[in-house]
Amino acid sequence: MTVVQLHPAAAVADAVKVYGIGATQVRALDHVTVEFPARRFTAIMGPSGSGKSTLMHCAAGLDTLTAGSAHIGGTELGTLNDRRLTELRRERIGFVFQAFNLVPTLTVRENITLPLDLAGKAPDAAWVDALVDVVGLGDRLHHRPAELSGGQQQRVAVARALAGRPQVVFADEPTGNLDSRSGAEVLGLLRQAVDTMGQAVVMVTHDPTAAGYADRALFLADGRLVDSMDAPTADLVLDRMKAFDTPAGSTRATALTAAVSAAHTAADPATTEPTAAAPTAATPTISAPTTVPTAATGPRGSDRR
Ligand SMILES: Nc1ncnc2c1ncn2[C@@H]1O[C@H](COP(=O)(O)OP(=O)(O)O)[C@@H](O)[C@H]1O
Ligand SMILES: [Mg+2]
Repeated sequence: MTVVQLHPAAAVADAVKVYGIGATQVRALDHVTVEFPARRFTAIMGPSGSGKSTLMHCAAGLDTLTAGSAHIGGTELGTLNDRRLTELRRERIGFVFQAFNLVPTLTVRENITLPLDLAGKAPDAAWVDALVDVVGLGDRLHHRPAELSGGQQQRVAVARALAGRPQVVFADEPTGNLDSRSGAEVLGLLRQAVDTMGQAVVMVTHDPTAAGYADRALFLADGRLVDSMDAPTADLVLDRMKAFDTPAGSTRATALTAAVSAAHTAADPATTEPTAAAPTAATPTISAPTTVPTAATGPRGSDRR
């Protein structure tokens, strides 16, 4: 790092996003600094309303920050006019949304190459073929989205996001509309994009199982980055998320940390953090470990590499 300056695929620094004015003002991002490196799969976790989508939108140039900066590679988004920003999004960023957002009148293949067609670029046929192979839709290329299952449609959306070889793929709840099996296919595909194509992937999710596919999970609460976990597993993420359900006090992050350390050491939380409530077994927002994957569906397991 001393000689060569390597830019992360995407980054935000001291990011603040305020929606609205006056009494209705919402601070959706409150001084968030984070880097999303190349060849890394990052999951952004946190309760509903914690700022996950806002962080993704601002990092991807779909929305602008109130203060702070956002970079894609070495380019600061705030310095670009609308036209350059649109170009940058088209050429260097791929998007996957919860609703698959495919064009119903186009075939699978046409949907995959649509961003390139719009940009007036000839698709790299070999690359598109390779993508089609990876997403396992070779026999569906001339079908229309309505003829595909939800999981297949989302795999098309992932292929579309990767078609232009972007610097980073942002996915907002990509498995939110899928059953667990289809979700696993899509997550496996994103994992593969990182491992075999060197893609940077940033995925917003509230699902611990989905986060288990990532290399790192970041935790947002009230617009702040409150924690991060390397090599997350569904179990570890679930444990940590339970801490969000402790009574909302003045220091949620402190309660979170205490709860996590209590869970790890099995110590009496009262001895380590007198003011923090102990994590309870019951979690209103996250269903009990029925969603935790078995080894067979295991996310970052060696079988996926
Ligand atoms: N366009 C908007 N106008 C006003 N408030 C918004 C807008 N988008 C998001 N918010 C608010 O910002 C906060 C964070 O929202 P969001 O980033 O969508 O959270 P998450 O994706 O974690 O559920 C919430 O309080 C939400 O109501
Ligand atoms: Mg959201």
